[in-house]
Amino acid sequence: MTQIVLETKDLTKTFGTRKAVDAINITAYEGEVFGFVGPNGAGKTTTLGMALGLVHPTDGEVYVLGQRVTPNRVQALRDIGALLGAPAFIPYLSAWENIELVARLSPGVDKKRIHEVIELVGLTESARKKVSKFSTGMKQRVGLAMALVHRPRFIILDEPTNGLDPAGMREIRQLLRSLAENGTSALLSSHLLNEVQQVCDRIAVLHRGRVVAQGRVDDLLNRQKPAVRLTVHDAEAAVRAFESLPGVENVQASGNSLLVLGVDSQAVMNHLLQHHVIPTEITAQKTDLESVFMDLTSAN
Ligand SMILES: Nc1ncnc2c1ncn2[C@@H]1O[C@H](COP(=O)(O)OP(=O)(O)OP(=O)(O)O)[C@@H](O)[C@H]1O
Ligand SMILES: [Mg+2]
Repeated sequence: MTQIVLETKDLTKTFGTRKAVDAINITAYEGEVFGFVGPNGAGKTTTLGMALGLVHPTDGEVYVLGQRVTPNRVQALRDIGALLGAPAFIPYLSAWENIELVARLSPGVDKKRIHEVIELVGLTESARKKVSKFSTGMKQRVGLAMALVHRPRFIILDEPTNGLDPAGMREIRQLLRSLAENGTSALLSSHLLNEVQQVCDRIAVLHRGRVVAQGRVDDLLNRQKPAVRLTVHDAEAAVRAFESLPGVENVQASGNSLLVLGVDSQAVMNHLLQHHVIPTEITAQKTDLESVFMDLTSAN
């Protein structure tokens, strides 16, 4: 049976009168990269803080690796790695020395493992340089190495690619994938949908403290209805033709260009040809998480 690495039950956090996290139920499984997405202020960091015992829930429960987390009692901590916000270092020490300091707290972590983790996050060339000289992206890598050095089963990362350039982001995505394939599950929060779409197996979309969608990325993408954009010589004739095409939900016309919702490009093409309307241009609208996300979070 697949083990659950994170589970929340009606987890709630109220700040004053504002519900930052509102009765959320989330389940993340072993071996997956689980994404937490949502606009600014959606409650992502607050939820991750509760999973790590750093923020006191107002109500509900949170379990990590099967253990109930309460502030000051995070039994599973030894098997978790975390990177929340800007990582904390001693700036005048090198990357290696900072990682070594953390490593000393964990039994069984030797020099070989420190080397390994430094290579894993792509810091080999700069390992002996002072962290104070590092760019934000490099600091982020040191933070990741510190979170991974003790070989956790589960890592919790809040916006881990913050400050990284596109190549660095890709490396971190690949790293998360290979970690998941080798048994280290990950929970990451991000507002970069493109990134989440590429790296996560499943996601929860948060909006104003509530989970508005949760599931496999593929399923969420498939939920979105197809749409086709086309240009025609006679928009009126085309709009009339679409009245008899089953599945069409809406046709938006602007001059000679039309947006047809609810049907795919093949159906549009076949139907128009039957009605002797020849489009001069036709493209299927790309389904991406961005549009699914906008649909989910634009409603109040
Ligand atoms: N310590 C705090 N005291 C009061 N309000 C807080 C506190 N921490 C968070 N909040 C509020 O809770 C809500 C959720 O914040 P949170 O930081 O969890 O969102 P987020 O999804 O991580 O957003 P972002 O994408 O900006 O990081 C926000 O309205 C925020 O202002
Ligand atoms: Mg946040």
